[in-house]
Amino acid sequence: MNQEAILSEEFEISGGDFVNGGRASCLIKNILKEIGIDAEILRRVAIAAYEAEMNVVMYARRGIMKLVLTPKRIIIKVEDEGPGIHDIELAMQPGYSTATPEMREMGFGAGMGLPNIKKNSDKFNIESTVGKGTNLEIIINLNNKNV
Ligand SMILES: Nc1ncnc2c1ncn2[C@@H]1O[C@H](COP(=O)(O)OP(=O)(O)O)[C@@H](O)[C@H]1O
Ligand SMILES: [Mg+2]
Repeated sequence: MNQEAILSEEFEISGGDFVNGGRASCLIKNILKEIGIDAEILRRVAIAAYEAEMNVVMYARRGIMKLVLTPKRIIIKVEDEGPGIHDIELAMQPGYSTATPEMREMGFGAGMGLPNIKKNSDKFNIESTVGKGTNLEIIINLNNKNV
């Protein structure tokens, strides 16, 4: 299980920055595309990373998105400093959202981000400490023809 990283990158995410929000996940998608990762896997990574990134933009102060590629999987970790999530089970429910009216006007707040991250991951882990922040781990397996 202790697979060596082929590639490791880190990107910063700023809370409240809707102008640059989405850049980290876009860069990750481009890096993996360049390497030749299969389109279907790329699509799943892009959705999961984008939803995780926008949650930091919308709900946290700042965060970091880490990409690790190993011969067998893509691992994305998102660690933020922010309010944390009181009730993870509730936050994971499709349709649950605390998005503000302003965010909803921009088209966010469908409450499908976390469910879609889970759906597009082979393994998804979420941990949160109220008053401190939230950590996500998204793992997407490669089918062996990729690398
Ligand atoms: N990184 C985070 N920090 C704090 N709260 C979060 C974070 N990510 C998600 N949440 C909470 O979980 C809820 C559900 O998230 P999500 O499924 O992505 O839906 P949406 O972003 O549309 O609200 C959010 O409305 C918010 O209350
Ligand atoms: Mg969301």
